[in-house]
Amino acid sequence: MKNGAPPSPRPELRGLPVYEPGRAAPRGAIKLASNENAYGPSPAARKAFHHFSAFERYPDGGASSLRRALSRRLRVRPDHLLIGAGSDEIGDLLARAYLRPGDTVVYPKYTFVRYALSGRACGAKLVESRVAADFSVDIADLARAVRVRGVRMVCLANPNNPTGAYVGREDLRRILDETPRSAVFVLDEAYFEYARLSPDYPDGARFLKSHPNLIVLRTFSKIHGLAALRVGYALAHPSLISELHKVRPPFNVNAPAQSAALAALADERRVRRVAARNASERARLQKAMSGLGFTVYPSAGNFLLADVGMNGRRAFRRLAHLGVIVRPLDAYGLTRHLRVTVGKPSETRRLCRALSRLRTSR
Ligand SMILES: Cc1ncc(COP(=O)(O)O)c(C=O)c1O
Repeated sequence: MKNGAPPSPRPELRGLPVYEPGRAAPRGAIKLASNENAYGPSPAARKAFHHFSAFERYPDGGASSLRRALSRRLRVRPDHLLIGAGSDEIGDLLARAYLRPGDTVVYPKYTFVRYALSGRACGAKLVESRVAADFSVDIADLARAVRVRGVRMVCLANPNNPTGAYVGREDLRRILDETPRSAVFVLDEAYFEYARLSPDYPDGARFLKSHPNLIVLRTFSKIHGLAALRVGYALAHPSLISELHKVRPPFNVNAPAQSAALAALADERRVRRVAARNASERARLQKAMSGLGFTVYPSAGNFLLADVGMNGRRAFRRLAHLGVIVRPLDAYGLTRHLRVTVGKPSETRRLCRALSRLRTSR
């Protein structure tokens, strides 16, 4: 074998960081770091997964049963839907299908780090629009940013991770109207089922007819409690969906995951119950954390952003030492902040005990 330099990857990958997932909880610790559903999936979804037996067969490549079920639920035709291995995969398909080196991707500051990673991997330029001091999106600034020449993609997480802020109906309409039709508008609604309890929270799917460049992403990872199985979906005009099928791996969503997602979707009562529990537990946690002297921001998701008044990475380490894994946000440029997932009441109590010890040792 000849020696020589190893193959060089595309130059866009130079210096690109690897996504840092929430740390797994060691034995005895609790994990409130990845906005998972503390209550787990519907029992029907667990059952569907465990009863799966056709291991020797490839999965249904187009996930046609799941698409049909979603199409009935969401009142759109199946050709408006695409299923992915998590909504993350659909984000990557979008980048592969639409981004060329030198294109511009626009998103508000302090948003889900995956948009920047996918954009950079494709050689796109990244432009961040401003947010207010309470992290709400500055719509005028976003409207200005999306009109600049070369914008090929706009990403808006609604509500936003990690801040929890959301854009209301009229603001969403405005920003969609301002975005040129030549740019894909990616509306990431990973926390849709939680957020729809918040006043004036818009259902992005309502704008699909009027905006053929819009794609709405949702997931089974959050309220449906199936993060481990990796199932997400997109809603968009068929012309956009058909481009994504060209870059989709043929069997991207495994069969037991499709079965579990189908069962989870059917259990609407559970979804509503988890959303209601989350709203009350989130309010309780927000009050308790504010009472401990932290600045906590309003959130429409199943997580809260807090300014802990000290180095966030250090706070994360101390809390981990006390058996509570949360999320430091230095990768987002939020160096005094932590993001905590809203868990069960017992987890809230344990988190608050740890935060109280953190406060006295600040
Ligand atoms: C805004 C947002 N989008 C997408 C995802 C990832 O979702 P999925 O598990 O469907 O890939 C997350 C997960 O934390 C998220 O917060």
